[in-house]
Amino acid sequence: MIESGGKNLWFVRSPLSIAGIHITSIMTIVKTTHDQLILISPVEINASLKSAIEELGTVAWIVAPNEFHHLFITSAKAAFPEAKIRCTSGLPKKIKSLPEHSILNVNETQVWGDDLEVLQFYPGSLGDEYIFYHSSSQTLILTDLFMWFEGEQNLATKLFSRLMSANGDSPKMSLMMKLIYRDKTKLRNSFAKMLEWDFKRVHLAHNRNIETDAKRHIINATRFAEHSGAKSTVES
Ligand SMILES: [Fe+2]
Repeated sequence: MIESGGKNLWFVRSPLSIAGIHITSIMTIVKTTHDQLILISPVEINASLKSAIEELGTVAWIVAPNEFHHLFITSAKAAFPEAKIRCTSGLPKKIKSLPEHSILNVNETQVWGDDLEVLQFYPGSLGDEYIFYHSSSQTLILTDLFMWFEGEQNLATKLFSRLMSANGDSPKMSLMMKLIYRDKTKLRNSFAKMLEWDFKRVHLAHNRNIETDAKRHIINATRFAEHSGAKSTVES
């Protein structure tokens, strides 16, 4: 149920179906340098998963990393009532019943310790995604920026994954995401900051992680942004 992603990092792949589309969702669990657990993009937490998480440590933080991954925030808070919620600035307007929370910021290392860095990707975008770098495991933690699907797919899932450019040999940014991030200079700046991190693995929320050749895959996935507008700062 809980799989290790490296030192002080775990993930949980959980079935999730929306309108017949089996998208699967991945939650990342980080243990901070202060021995506290952070749940990033929580999945549904049943009694057995709750017990398994409690064996890893005390959940202190629940993170909604963008404005789409909030489905299980309230139930995660119910499972771990002492945990504090961090979310994007737009989420409280979208979810009126959101429990007590505070807004994510790029200085979370002051609270979480310096092995988990935070970047607001393309500030001001629809969805407002925050991305993370966990240095102890050299893992880049993304949510919806890229999707990469594996496994059997029903027709609805096939159509969705094609729409999200998630079926190739390597992750790609979908047309939908390119429309959201249409200012190429701003996009390149966010890509450049992301690529400064020395990652060897990548967590994606849907539906598989990148375990090998991660930097090469991500550089390839960002290359399209080099070919329009101002000169790119992204290097390969
Ligand atoms: Fe998602």
